[in-house]
Amino acid sequence: YLTEIFIVLISYVLGSIPFALIIGKLGYRVDVREHGSGNLGTTNTFRVLGKRAGTLVLLGDMGKGLVAALLPLLFGSDMSLLLAGIPAIIGHSYPVFAKFKGGKSVATSAGVLLAAFPWFFLVVVTTFVVTLLVSKMVSLSSMAASVVGLVTVIAYGIIARDWLPLIVIVPLALFIIIKHRSNWQRIRSGTEPKVPLFQKRK
Ligand code: G3P
Repeated sequence: YLTEIFIVLISYVLGSIPFALIIGKLGYRVDVREHGSGNLGTTNTFRVLGKRAGTLVLLGDMGKGLVAALLPLLFGSDMSLLLAGIPAIIGHSYPVFAKFKGGKSVATSAGVLLAAFPWFFLVVVTTFVVTLLVSKMVSLSSMAASVVGLVTVIAYGIIARDWLPLIVIVPLALFIIIKHRSNWQRIRSGTEPKVPLFQKRK
């Protein structure tokens, strides 16, 4: 199992790359952990540094999940792509390069799902986008996508008798929901910030 252990390690290291920190510090001399929600992720980068930086972080954070999940193909292993992506998700939330304090793993999980489970990726991204258009809250959209993903993967597991996605994605969805507990408090008290979608430029 040497190859698989190697894949797990590389996946974790890839996931640990803190793009929000790197792009913020190198491009803008700003530590996004000291602004906005303080979260080291795509949403907070959009919030603090704007569209260009946010888009780069989204691509970086999704990209590292995607690449991590594809590692078994690269190394000729028959390890499941979904399993190979999990260490990257853990790395994003607990990065070795940023004192183990990372983000909420929404974008990185999306990258893993895109590579490992494309139809399921479409289900959760559609849920995310529809919720975002209606509520304008990224956190609520992430939680809605997690809940719909949870129900979908349980139904799929039972119908297709394919247990691996269920075993991996149920804890992942719960993990993402738990990571959003401070957002949930803010949503309930009406203080969660909204995204200025389709705002006209002046
Ligand atoms: O990407 C994480 C998102 O769902 C919430 O981020 O910064 O609003 O806590 P944030």
